[in-house]
Amino acid sequence: MRISIQHLTKVFPSRTKGGKAVHAVEDMNIEIPSGQLVGLLGPSGCGKSTTLFMLSGLETATSGKILFDDQDVTTLAAEKRGVGLVFQNYALYPHMTVQQNIRFPLDNMRINREEGNARALDAARLVQIEDLMARKPHELSGGQQQRVAIARALVKMPNVLLLDEPLSNLDARLRLQTREEIKRIQRTTGITTVFVTHDQEEAMSICDIMVVMKLGVVQQIGAPQHIYDDPNNLFVANFLGTPPINIFKGKIQGGKAYIGEEAVGDAPYGDREVYVGIRPEGFIYNPQGALTLNVDHIEVMGRDKSVVSTHESSTKPTVRSIIDSDVALPEGAEQLKFDIKPYKLFLFDAETEERLR
Ligand SMILES: Nc1ncnc2c1ncn2[C@@H]1O[C@H](COP(=O)(O)OP(=O)(O)O)[C@@H](O)[C@H]1O
Ligand SMILES: [Mg+2]
Repeated sequence: MRISIQHLTKVFPSRTKGGKAVHAVEDMNIEIPSGQLVGLLGPSGCGKSTTLFMLSGLETATSGKILFDDQDVTTLAAEKRGVGLVFQNYALYPHMTVQQNIRFPLDNMRINREEGNARALDAARLVQIEDLMARKPHELSGGQQQRVAIARALVKMPNVLLLDEPLSNLDARLRLQTREEIKRIQRTTGITTVFVTHDQEEAMSICDIMVVMKLGVVQQIGAPQHIYDDPNNLFVANFLGTPPINIFKGKIQGGKAYIGEEAVGDAPYGDREVYVGIRPEGFIYNPQGALTLNVDHIEVMGRDKSVVSTHESSTKPTVRSIIDSDVALPEGAEQLKFDIKPYKLFLFDAETEERLR
């Protein structure tokens, strides 16, 4: 199933008299090819859930259109859309067994018990919980409960699977494992899937296409690696990457980008104030290098080391540079100089915060 989102907008009226309406989603346009796993990524309150609810039919759009293949589903009732939904809190029925929970949507459709059980078992196998069918939710771990919720969403064989922060209630290890699992299930079934998260690592690791949102407005759409390597604006550059990108106040003068008085790269744009973004992996140690950092300490992490330093033009308390562990750095140096890899350096107009390209 292809999904086409066209000028989709959701405005919630103000909750208080004379208060401001909330523009939860603003003129969203996304084309999702069939069988893709799409991640909606952005900070809390940026409109991810609202988008998902409009896709599912639980929320009506203020304006704009949603197409599933060529069918306009914008005003179609939720139960007619063929979507499976999974939420952050698994929302299982506590008094029902795993089998009954998974079968529940089929019971509602008056599918007979025998076929219901067979399909529930298929769905349970897909998420690898077929041995847990007789248990009640309280006898399961969080990860297992979330798998039951996913099986329940899959049992109707939906055309579209919608997942709203499905991993956020799991501990770190389970989160990692379950996200691999979701990726595998999505690949196996080929169901077009929209996955909502505020966790950039999660989105980067499992999505085919990532949609970065801020305050209801799409900032960038593309393959995760592409967005990381080629961010549209300061917000996107900042949002992606661990450790995050380093940002300095700087300027462009005569075709060069400056941080303080040091020229750190070419800048074939007009003179102006800029933010200079440098990814942590963008530093090359060089005693005659372009940029001088005041070293605070060095963390050795096996494969590489992290130089934690400060710089008066940095917009963040510390500057992080990740250096290969086999690069020898002088012991106890108070300052170190680095050259900057040009493709790891991004310039943003200081006014608009848009990327200069
Ligand atoms: N039913 C509602 N009534 C009024 N405002 C809402 C409602 N649901 C969400 N909002 C507002 O819309 C914005 C987007 O919310 P949401 O889609 O839940 O964000 P996210 O899922 O990205 O955290 C927020 O400002 C939120 O407060
Ligand atoms: Mg949400």
